[in-house]
Amino acid sequence: MSSNARLDAWVAEVAAMTRPDRIHWCDGSPAEYDEMLRLMIHAGTAVPLDDERRPGSILVRSHPADVARVEDRTFICSARKEDAGPTNNWAEPSEMKETLRGLFAGSMTGRTMYVIPYSMGPVGSPIANIGVELSDSPYVVANMHVMTRVGTRVMDVLGADGDFVRGLHSVGMPLGPSDPDSAWPHNMEHKYICHFPDTREIWSFGSGYGGNALLGKKCHALRIASVQARDEGWLAEHMLILKLTTPQGRVHYITAAFPSACGKTNLAMLEPSIPGWKIETVGDDIAWMKIGSDGRLRAINPEAGFFGVAPGTSYATNANAMRTFTHNAIFTNCAVTADGDVWWESMTDEAPEAATDWLRRPWNGTEPRKAAHPNARFTVSASQCPVIAPEWEDPEGVPIDAILFGGRRTTTVPLVTEAFDWTHGTFIGATTGSETTAAAVGAVGQLRRDPMAMLPFCGYNMADYWGHWLSFNDRMAADKLPRVFFVNWFRKDENGKFLWPGYGENSRVLKWIVERVEGEADAVESPIGLHPAEGALDVDGLALRDGAMDQLMAVDPEAWLAEMGLIREHFARFGDRLPRALAACADDLETRIRDAMPVGAATAD
Ligand code: OXD
Ligand code: MN
Repeated sequence: MSSNARLDAWVAEVAAMTRPDRIHWCDGSPAEYDEMLRLMIHAGTAVPLDDERRPGSILVRSHPADVARVEDRTFICSARKEDAGPTNNWAEPSEMKETLRGLFAGSMTGRTMYVIPYSMGPVGSPIANIGVELSDSPYVVANMHVMTRVGTRVMDVLGADGDFVRGLHSVGMPLGPSDPDSAWPHNMEHKYICHFPDTREIWSFGSGYGGNALLGKKCHALRIASVQARDEGWLAEHMLILKLTTPQGRVHYITAAFPSACGKTNLAMLEPSIPGWKIETVGDDIAWMKIGSDGRLRAINPEAGFFGVAPGTSYATNANAMRTFTHNAIFTNCAVTADGDVWWESMTDEAPEAATDWLRRPWNGTEPRKAAHPNARFTVSASQCPVIAPEWEDPEGVPIDAILFGGRRTTTVPLVTEAFDWTHGTFIGATTGSETTAAAVGAVGQLRRDPMAMLPFCGYNMADYWGHWLSFNDRMAADKLPRVFFVNWFRKDENGKFLWPGYGENSRVLKWIVERVEGEADAVESPIGLHPAEGALDVDGLALRDGAMDQLMAVDPEAWLAEMGLIREHFARFGDRLPRALAACADDLETRIRDAMPVGAATAD
């Protein structure tokens, strides 16, 4: 029982439906966290890692059928279908509730229902938002402890009449008195990740993994929050937040939106290769941005931890992440070495001689199959990050100078492009394309439009969301709006080799961006936006092969005409709802591309 009557009534109502054996109100204490780890180890869900190598850490292995976000089972249940828009699965709210009530009926029998009060954002911050997740999974409780602020201190802020986002989660595997439990309970037949934006509710059934089950993250902080942001005049975005300090000690804050598993965590913790520049982390996945009393866009990281993709993370690619999860971490679907540490592809130059893969099979480094699942994860508190910015929990947020969009594009798209203005920046974000990754179930490597990296996370009609972005032209003074850029670290040459070294060298691109913000760097106009003038991008000491820079920055009118076709197809999905300003940007872009065509070149429509 709590002192909040609304919460008590809802907990009672859910308990009557799901019929758990016990109800546990989470207090967020270290003892409670330890108890969750103990329960997982006892159930065979987790194994403790070697206490010398990875103190306080465990490895969890999920069922192979429950390893990533299930976008095709994710629904936006707004009252009207057109409010969910063509990029979301929609279901009529009362019909979906009826289906879900059928599935949730008795779904927690034999289990404990945990009541997890959490705050997205520093507890009590004017930008923070409270949610309560009811879940029958100790894995969820432990991860929510790390990823959000949980427990008594949240209840104190909620008080007797505070309201909250309601999140209901069940792994969907009730237990009869003599049923054996599974190491990773989930529901093989039914998975539903449902959002009711009008009533600020989330109902998630059947999956225990990541964004499907940790409801504070994608479901609350993006899908529901994007609707709250639309209604209240702010932005809830799939963006990292980083702090960049120049050699002269000037500080700039940048947010960047990249689709899942495209390097947000790496960029947020980057070690710059250029002398004198410093990067610190404010957040690696989500930014809530509100207009501050100074008229600037101020961002907070609503999360308290990192739920990062492990494969590919190493001392060479992200040393600061490696230093963050040296202790007190939860690893999911990684391999475990014979001496009790975790391992994943590219973590070290040499594979371990003896390990157990994420499917619990012996693995000795010579097998063709991967030791870790490509979407294996680490969960760790942001406070353990050696480059966390001291102001990362500032309740007022940090003022944003530049917003970056990016994608994984092996062709066509240059290393860096600056938008002409906020409207063009919105167009650039709205037309972002990227090749798909393992963060969601489905084919990998296919080009799809992922506007603002929000395709799987926008809780309403994407065209209205673009309209909301454009409305910041009216909400903010032009000189206070952040500058917008597009970056692409992934362009390849004709032999399929990456043209840009990436990682620490990306600081060179950030340097040009900050110098543009400061009015110090020159740009030249291209048909698609502004590019670094000759010599403006610092490549001093960088060993690029001859001609690589030209290839990296090339704008091929033929390729862009083909891209235009894809952009037009993408926009056509939104019919009349597409904001006129974006249709005009598309027309202007096409005119500029056609003007850039060599005389006499084919200009097929
Ligand atoms: C994530 C994702 O987990 O984007 O952050 O999938
Ligand atoms: Mn993400």
